[in-house]
Amino acid sequence: MKSASNLILVGPMGAGKSSIGRRLAARFGLPFVDADREIECATGAAIPLIFELAGEAGFREREHEVLARLCRSGPSVIATGGGAVLRADNRRLLSEHGFVVHLDVDPESQLRRLANDRARPLLQRPDRREVLQRLGEERAPLYADVADLRFETGRGSVRQAAERLA
Ligand code: S3P
Repeated sequence: MKSASNLILVGPMGAGKSSIGRRLAARFGLPFVDADREIECATGAAIPLIFELAGEAGFREREHEVLARLCRSGPSVIATGGGAVLRADNRRLLSEHGFVVHLDVDPESQLRRLANDRARPLLQRPDRREVLQRLGEERAPLYADVADLRFETGRGSVRQAAERLA
């Protein structure tokens, strides 16, 4: 049962959730919120530092608290982090509080867009391609479970994908 009219973007790192979210928000006249930036504001630390000090589990706790607050204070366009769907309580929260769009991306476009990334702790290792592939396989059914709509953003730039969607 949908109780708030958020537009919620889920999907893997590099799918373009923040850029596309900003554009959709402007198009619909809604505020845009990025869950990762809200976690950093609430914690007073950048995401790599949160992972370093509190581990991934500590990050996921903060992520859950922020998602719960954002979902309940809409209507907004909310860009979530790629792992927001890992917890069943998050999946319930997201699907109960908005229309959920799964922005998906093929592995080659994802790698290209994230080639110079230094801000995502899960990718700061030499086997980035394998990590992205494993996360993709593990998470695909979770995105499908929560999504009302799936949209492919690969093949070209995020900007081109945003123009097709909004
Ligand atoms: C993560 C994705 C990141 C961020 C954190 C963990 C993940 O967000 O939440 O680094 O587990 O996939 P983006 O999807 O916005 O890059």
